[in-house]
Amino acid sequence: MTRYARVIGTGGYLPDEIRTNEQISQTVDTSDSWIIERTGIKSRRIAGPDETASSMAEIAARQAIEAAGCDPEQIDLIIVATGTPDRVYPSTGCLLQQRLGIKDCVSFDVQAACSGSIFALNIADQYIKSGAAKTILVVGTEICSRIVDWTDRGTCILFGDGAGAVLLGLSEETGILSTHIHSDGEYEDLLYCPNPQAASESNKHESAFISMRGNEVFKVAVNTLGRIVDETLEANNMDKEAIDWLVPHQANIRIIAATAKKLKMSMDQVVVTLENQGNTSSASVLLAFNEAIRDGRIQRGQVVLLEAFGAGFTWGSALIKY
Ligand code: COA
Repeated sequence: MTRYARVIGTGGYLPDEIRTNEQISQTVDTSDSWIIERTGIKSRRIAGPDETASSMAEIAARQAIEAAGCDPEQIDLIIVATGTPDRVYPSTGCLLQQRLGIKDCVSFDVQAACSGSIFALNIADQYIKSGAAKTILVVGTEICSRIVDWTDRGTCILFGDGAGAVLLGLSEETGILSTHIHSDGEYEDLLYCPNPQAASESNKHESAFISMRGNEVFKVAVNTLGRIVDETLEANNMDKEAIDWLVPHQANIRIIAATAKKLKMSMDQVVVTLENQGNTSSASVLLAFNEAIRDGRIQRGQVVLLEAFGAGFTWGSALIKY
């Protein structure tokens, strides 16, 4: 029997507060037109004071569970991708398990920055293919607004908050076709977020905010995502034309457009959410996937390519026959 990890439900959550480019341009030296032209972003959502990665994850997860018509007790593994966990430990996965009231399952977090949800899908796929699990909840959840320096115009314009979820179930017919993940730790200095509390003496006075050399990150991202597309197609012996939808990480519209061009895909086949969400890091791909399933764009039987790139650097893809 061939075992596939099939998408049986998806969910998403965005906090209520909308922060526009106009609002940001009142506090740092930037403008709505510059941000739109260089990134494609118009606004982003900001979590409320009482919200956390686990509270947002719970809302997205409950939606995915409801869409699947699944009893939460059937879930045997929860994998949460986040770079902004509520606590160092317990993991956000365990906090989510508690919130969902699931008594007996395994829960843990994956930290791969903006590629986190692709890494989590990769792990989930291995568990289902090997027979180690049957029903897996994967969530990407981030409160980027709390690790962004709102006085740094190079980063504060980019990020937003939210959570995306997917529930995977064992199927004999269809599901995740392949996943591909990579890391290269050489690039620490181009994009990082310090953790002063656990840092060495020489680093403990760093701010706890995202630090990024945006232009350099941009170039590596475009090249790397081009390569992961080739790798995914080759592994599946598939032509570009076989892909119905591209669901990319939502970092910058110019990076997304470059990947679409590489695939010779029209932007009509690309799910873009960044205009009103910004970069929600590990939540972005699952939020976009959920949106396009719920609004009917992605249909059962279609082939969907999910891809992401993030700090580390980390990058990866998941090819899914939905
Ligand atoms: N408003 C106005 N000007 C800005 C600005 C802002 N928000 N941010 C930077 N600038 C300025 C720079 O200071 C620079 O000015 P200078 O020429 O006088 O030195 C100029 O704009 C060009 O800066 P540069 O960094 O080359 O711009 P860019 O076209 O690369 O756009 C980013 C900047 C951050 C939008 C872009 O590099 C990007 O999106 N990079 C990828 C980031 C990313 O995806 N990170 C997450 C990975 S998961």
